[in-house]
Amino acid sequence: MDNKARIAVLVSGGGTNLQAIIDAQNSGVIKSGEVCLVISNKADAYALQRAKNAGIEARIITRKKGAVSELGIPVTECTRETFEDEIIKAIDEKNIDIIVLAGFMCILSEKFTSHYEERILNVHPSLIPSFCGEGFYGLKVHEAALEKGVKVTGATVHFVNEIPDGGRIIAQKAVCVEDGDTPEILQKRVMEQAEWIILPESIERISYERVHNKTV
Ligand code: GAR
Repeated sequence: MDNKARIAVLVSGGGTNLQAIIDAQNSGVIKSGEVCLVISNKADAYALQRAKNAGIEARIITRKKGAVSELGIPVTECTRETFEDEIIKAIDEKNIDIIVLAGFMCILSEKFTSHYEERILNVHPSLIPSFCGEGFYGLKVHEAALEKGVKVTGATVHFVNEIPDGGRIIAQKAVCVEDGDTPEILQKRVMEQAEWIILPESIERISYERVHNKTV
């Protein structure tokens, strides 16, 4: 292994978590790892623009027929059956050590997760085991938290295994729910006060462990 862990970030949408990772790399919060590849399953994800702005190689791997990239990013069209194989191929071609799911809205099969055991990290916008698992993603998580009336929520970074949001927890941070919160307001607070902090910190910790081959 080189002196930095090679990281791939998988995205589907706006990519604010990807941006937090890029910023953490630039500010030195992430120093034991380097993002070498961004993969999106959506051709129009704004996260791809963020990758391009940062000079990071990006790929689109999508089941959508006829997808094109306005940014000139290479598109691989695939089927439901070949989707994960194409991602594995792209990741392995680049000798990736750590995979980060940063707003990647696809559930990965056991075949995929066992191929990279304890090498895939995910950020989830609640305190697992609350509001998690299949069907809980993005704004839906915050809608459910407000509906339940919880006073504290937060974010979790965890390893990914075959159970949706079920892998070993790496970090969590609590965030207060406030009177008058809408799902959008709560989502923003959880991102600012938790996700954008604990995701880069966790990436640094896991990268350091891989580079030094030990647990800290
Ligand atoms: C983030 O809040 C992330 O935690 C969530 O989607 C949002 C993506 O935003 N992920 C999940 O719900 C996964 N279960 P981003 O594209 O701006 O990083």
